[in-house]
Amino acid sequence: MQQNLNSHTRMVLDEERLEAAKQSLDQGAVTPEMTQWRDDIVKLLNDALATEIVCVLRYKRHYFTATGLESPAIAEEFLVHANEEQAHADKIAKRIVQLGGEPDLNPDTLTQRSHADYSPDSDLRSMIRANLIAERVAIEAYSQMIELIGDKDPSSRRLIEHILEQEQEHADELSDWMKHAT
Ligand SMILES: [Fe+2]
Ligand SMILES: [Fe+2]
Repeated sequence: MQQNLNSHTRMVLDEERLEAAKQSLDQGAVTPEMTQWRDDIVKLLNDALATEIVCVLRYKRHYFTATGLESPAIAEEFLVHANEEQAHADKIAKRIVQLGGEPDLNPDTLTQRSHADYSPDSDLRSMIRANLIAERVAIEAYSQMIELIGDKDPSSRRLIEHILEQEQEHADELSDWMKHAT
C-alpha cells in the first residue's frame, strides 16, 4: 500500500533560519529565532535566580541554628540542600550570561523578586515546614517556566527540567522528615 507522504508535515530543517543564524554574530549563542523571547526568558531566569539565592540563605540559617537541636542529621541535610540551591543559582546565572543578559544579584531586591520566602524559624518542625513550602513554590514556578519556554529555548528548558527534578527530591525528603519531626 502506498503511503501518502504529503499528508504529513515533513521533518526538514528551515534553511532560511540557518541562513539567519549566520548574521548578527555579536549576539553570540543567541539565534534570531530566540531573540524575540530573550528578554522574557532572562526575566524568568532572574526571578528563579533570586529564588535560589533566598533558598540558600534560608537553608544556611536553618543549618546553623538547627545544629544543636534533636536532629543534627537533618541540620546536615539543610546544608546539603543549601549547596545544591547554590549550584542551581550558579547554573542559572551562567545561562543568563549566555543569553546576553545580566544576572541580577542585587541584595536590595532579592526577597521581592524571589518566589519563596526567607523564613527565619527557630524550631525544627517550622524549619522543615518552611523549606517544604519553598520547595513546592519552586516546583510550581519551574513547571510553569518549562511550559512557557516550550521549544523557544531548549537549553534553558533542559536546565530548568534538571533543577526541577532536584527540587522534587528536596520536597520528597522534607515531607518524609515532616512525618518524623516532633
Ligand atoms: Fe534550587
Ligand atoms: Fe530545593
